[in-house]
Amino acid sequence: MRNYEVKLADTDQEVAAALHLRRQVFVEEQHMFHASDADEHDEDSILINIWKNGSILTGTVRCYPDKKDATVWWGGRLAVRAEYRLRGIGVYLIEAAVAEMKLRQVRRFLAQVQQQNVNLFIKLGWKTVGDEFWFHDHPHQIMEADLHVHDAPNRKRSKQPVQS
Ligand SMILES: CC(C)(COP(=O)(O)OP(=O)(O)OC[C@H]1O[C@@H](n2cnc3c(N)ncnc32)[C@H](O)[C@@H]1OP(=O)(O)O)[C@@H](O)C(=O)NCCC(=O)NCCS
Repeated sequence: MRNYEVKLADTDQEVAAALHLRRQVFVEEQHMFHASDADEHDEDSILINIWKNGSILTGTVRCYPDKKDATVWWGGRLAVRAEYRLRGIGVYLIEAAVAEMKLRQVRRFLAQVQQQNVNLFIKLGWKTVGDEFWFHDHPHQIMEADLHVHDAPNRKRSKQPVQS
């Protein structure tokens, strides 16, 4: 996407911008949380932001390790600024998060997805895990990304020199 840059938040300013956008979307727009969407996972999270022209934060998503099993990571708080929706930014962020998880060689990447977004994730190759449940008065579904970990041994084998 021209003029857009995906970047891990690594300054206080970039983190604050992401938290501000999250608050606009999950507190003010969706009323999913009363005053703040911050929780105990924020301190362990990485934030992936997408900036337009280097200065407009158009979307953000967070990823964090499971508290009981650090080989499992969760994605969440996916938010695209309202006036930038339906331009592919959500998909771009989801794919950036999956790429980051592959780089970190996590074993599983899960997300608690709002029911109205399940089809979007299915289109990107994610699978449902378990049944629908309610979280903060909104129906949700746990979903899992296909990290193609099963391809790894094949890739390794293909690097072996060909016997002639
Ligand atoms: C969900 C959200 C992140 C999607 O971001 P986005 O940038 O608008 O999504 P994209 O432009 O990448 O759209 C991806 C696809 O989903 C479809 N889509 C996205 N939002 C949709 C909606 N509300 N209704 C119908 N279709 C929708 C798009 O048409 C597109 O389909 P296509 O690939 O066939 O063209 C964004 O709407 C948002 O921030 N919503 C509020 C917060 C939220 O619900 N977060 C997700 C929690 S799981």
